[in-house]
Amino acid sequence: MTEAKTIPQHVAIIMDGNGRWARERGLPRIEGHRAGSDSAREIVTAAGEIGVKYLTLYAFSIENWRRPREETSALMRLLTKFLKDEIPTLHKNNVRLEAIGRLADLPEHSQKQLAETRRVTAKNTGLTLILALSYGGRTEMVDGVRKIATEVREGRLRPEQINEETIAASLYTSSFPDPDLLIRTSGEMRLSNFLLWQTSYTEIWITPTLWPDFRKPEFLKALEDYRKRQRRFGGVEPT
Ligand code: IPE
Ligand code: IPE
Ligand code: MG
Repeated sequence: MTEAKTIPQHVAIIMDGNGRWARERGLPRIEGHRAGSDSAREIVTAAGEIGVKYLTLYAFSIENWRRPREETSALMRLLTKFLKDEIPTLHKNNVRLEAIGRLADLPEHSQKQLAETRRVTAKNTGLTLILALSYGGRTEMVDGVRKIATEVREGRLRPEQINEETIAASLYTSSFPDPDLLIRTSGEMRLSNFLLWQTSYTEIWITPTLWPDFRKPEFLKALEDYRKRQRRFGGVEPT
């Protein structure tokens, strides 16, 4: 049993509500995504300052490809621009960039810039920022099971050796700890296929605030609330 009390080591965020934020203002959806990237910048900096070690941002789900081509293309252009423009700020804040998801689905300009930003920030030792891109929790498990099945077929692994560690190691997140705190903006009460395996004991915090309006003060509120949680992991409260 662990009492949370401290700052979470790993925070994961479902950044939702950009479209509604734009609609409320009579703007095109992409303007909501643009404003959302300002929130992302602010939260990355805040997380680093506070001493969070890992921040995973759900930026684009594998299901988001179902959106009109106009929106997905604009989002990908925005992503590439963000990855390029943020390099000086990432360095200044000692942030290392990582990514999870079916990255080969991204357009070439995004893949190239992602590889470049990862390369140049690889030696930073502060916060690890993990972008979930073309990410789906079930797809991640499919990819993991394929890897494990290949190991078994090639005789490197026996089925009875498969345990929770084997499965965790087969996922995109193999080198990161599980999230301690999951934040979702815009009030939706669902996971939307995000980190299904990794969130088994994650504390959840949901706010009606739309992502472009989610800034540092509310992030601090979420962390403060986390500190008061008691994490039991199936055990009992201390008497
Ligand atoms: C989140 O905002 C960003 C992405 C999913 C890329 P949405 O675009 O889902 O905004 P709403 O939910 O339509 O308001
Ligand atoms: C989840 O938001 C995905 C991201 C924030 C990238 P969605 O807007 O795609 O989720 P649903 O469709 O409302 O479940
Ligand atoms: Mg949404």
